Amino acid sequence: MEKILSVVQAIREKTDFVPQVALILGSGLGAFYEKMDIRAEIPYAALAGFPVSTVEGHRGRFLFGFIEGVPAVLMQGRVHYYEGYTMEDVVLSIRVMYMLGARTLILTNAAGGIGTAQTPGSLMLISDHITSFVPSPLRGENKAALGERFPDMSEVYDARLRLAVKEIAEKEGISLSEGVYLQAAGPNYETPAEIRAFKTLGADAVGMSTACEAMAAKHMGMRILGISCISNFAAGLSDTPLSHTEVQTAANAAFGQFSALLLGIFRKLREETA
Ligand code: HPA
Repeated sequence: MEKILSVVQAIREKTDFVPQVALILGSGLGAFYEKMDIRAEIPYAALAGFPVSTVEGHRGRFLFGFIEGVPAVLMQGRVHYYEGYTMEDVVLSIRVMYMLGARTLILTNAAGGIGTAQTPGSLMLISDHITSFVPSPLRGENKAALGERFPDMSEVYDARLRLAVKEIAEKEGISLSEGVYLQAAGPNYETPAEIRAFKTLGADAVGMSTACEAMAAKHMGMRILGISCISNFAAGLSDTPLSHTEVQTAANAAFGQFSALLLGIFRKLREETA
């Protein structure tokens, strides 16, 4: 809790911007920041105690500004559990953005496709997640200021927002599947046997982030939306070995559609507050 408050205070010394929406950009999707009318920029490295991403292709900074007129905070780059941080550090940014004012959270990522609808280059709306393979960020003493001890997770990804996003996709001619995201610990990609197991468990896409962030956000009562950019067939579903370069290239290829969808979502969010 102290760490959350000290990071919030450090940010407040640099900007008084109050975001309504928080957005995290996943691998290969960082360029969406260009759609923001930027009012303040804070590199993670400028915040004492804030975990800094060590992965290439993940730039580390908060941007504050307006997206389609909606006051937002955007994270270009996130930290992952596989980097060695505790889950509490991994979700620190979510709690900080909540404390800064954000009540809606949009999570994006690059993910491996497991289901038949989840082909490389396509987008998947996250309907639900499986996070049982990584530790819970809520483990440890519960901070009552954040949420309750045993939070309900029966609707992590807001149903009304999902419906709105499906309508936007249809109107804009963007193909969008919907499915379950499974968070694996990483950093290695999965084995074909693991992917077969995950499929049996009901997963449609697999990645190394997002679900823990969604859990921490749900704990605080945030409204959550998750979008995966399917960057590759998950292990064993194609002949090519997986590589981070492939993931980034595919995410870049889907960027046009991703960007159009997100802009549509922000216009919808602006209507809400208007
Ligand atoms: N597995 C796990 N994480 C990923 C993948 C994958 O296939 N693609 C992008 N992130």
